[in-house]
Amino acid sequence: MIKIVGLCGSPLKGSTEYVLEQALAAAKAFAPDEIETELISVHGKKISPCVGCGYCKKNKTWCCIKDDMQEIFDKIAHADGLLVASPVYVMTATPQIHAIASRMRPAMHCYPGMLRNKFFAAIAVGGTRNGGQEVTIDDICHLFATRSMNMVSNEVGGYTGAKVWTADGGPEAAAADTIGMKTALDLGGKLAEVCLTYDLGKKALAQREPAR
Ligand SMILES: Cc1cc2nc3c(=O)[nH]c(=O)nc-3n(C[C@H](O)[C@H](O)[C@H](O)COP(=O)(O)O)c2cc1C
Repeated sequence: MIKIVGLCGSPLKGSTEYVLEQALAAAKAFAPDEIETELISVHGKKISPCVGCGYCKKNKTWCCIKDDMQEIFDKIAHADGLLVASPVYVMTATPQIHAIASRMRPAMHCYPGMLRNKFFAAIAVGGTRNGGQEVTIDDICHLFATRSMNMVSNEVGGYTGAKVWTADGGPEAAAADTIGMKTALDLGGKLAEVCLTYDLGKKALAQREPAR
């Protein structure tokens, strides 16, 4: 079974969560018997940013800050694909998404290779039509590619990720942006396709050669 986790970076249960739900449904629809999805949200969670104390690198272990990040990281660690959705906050992803990416530092420095076979894709939901969705997608791509995950791009019209415009009107307004919603659905399906294809390829490779 392929696991695709949707990470919602909005502190609210609002338009971003709605868009992510729809994109995850599109991922599931790609191969219903082979793909399972789960949505996790920063809503109601305490996630501090990395404070650069160096504890993880020095002790080759997980972060010493005790909050909800461990639970989020466990979900990411067990996922094949991560669909990262963020509202646009001041032309970038939310501080919560930045906090998560900064706290994933041990995955690079203490457990190298842990995330290298995982894929991610980016969804940005903004209140203004051209309010920074593209910049936010770039932001998400930099954050998670830096954590050695592999970016999945979108289909025609979506380019690097999915871009939805809400006019600050919540889920209903997001749903009304049919062009933007198509980019989210396309992206969910594409991420599922890439994860499934990669998994099948890995299994085929394992039959040909000694396991890598
Ligand atoms: C602190 C803050 C900053 C924001 N900055 C932007 C922005 O730069 N560009 C934009 O298009 N929308 C901006 N918005 C609007 C949100 O992106 C928009 O309302 C979005 O639909 C909220 O998603 P949510 O309902 O999932 O929280 C901002 C909202 C907040 C609260």
